[in-house]
Amino acid sequence: MAEENVIELKGVEKTFRDFWMRPVAEAVRGLDLEVARGDVFGLIGPNGSGKSTTIKMILGLIRPTKGTVRLFGLDPRAKAARARLGYLPELSHLHPFLTAEETVLYYAGLSGMKRQEARRRMLELLEELKLAHVRRRTVGGFSKAVWIRSARAR
Ligand SMILES: Nc1ncnc2c1ncn2[C@@H]1O[C@H](COP(=O)(O)OP(=O)(O)OP(=O)(O)O)[C@@H](O)[C@H]1O
Ligand SMILES: [Mg+2]
Repeated sequence: MAEENVIELKGVEKTFRDFWMRPVAEAVRGLDLEVARGDVFGLIGPNGSGKSTTIKMILGLIRPTKGTVRLFGLDPRAKAARARLGYLPELSHLHPFLTAEETVLYYAGLSGMKRQEARRRMLELLEELKLAHVRRRTVGGFSKAVWIRSARAR
């Protein structure tokens, strides 16, 4: 694999099966894909064309039926690959009672960052995102979280 490929899929297929192992959906068939370092890449396709299934395989949440998926040249389920991965899901699951700064420190801790380094990066990041002035506010009150709460209430 070329060193600069961050994501690499070769001959990837995914067939979902039911309890009796009968195929229920052929979600992805014969997918080859290379995303190089620095690329901005989008998956576009009609509903049910296999975009989410492909992302889940790249994240290592599900395994392909056939073919190989490599993330930074590693199996996506490898800890070293996951430590370098960022993923923003459609619905966020941030803890509503943690403040912005506690949230960032929490995830920094999970990714194995040392406390002092985490604190420095947290301040840098919140500054860059123009969130420094609300860093002691709980994230449950931030706009996206509000939107998710009201969407669920409907
Ligand atoms: N867990 C599952 N079990 C069975 N079939 C599934 C499962 N997940 C997805 N599928 C099927 O696989 C196909 C691809 O679905 P997928 O969710 O990957 O499409 P998508 O491109 O993300 O669609 P959308 O634009 O609606 O988000 C569909 O036919 C879907 O019904
Ligand atoms: Mg989808």
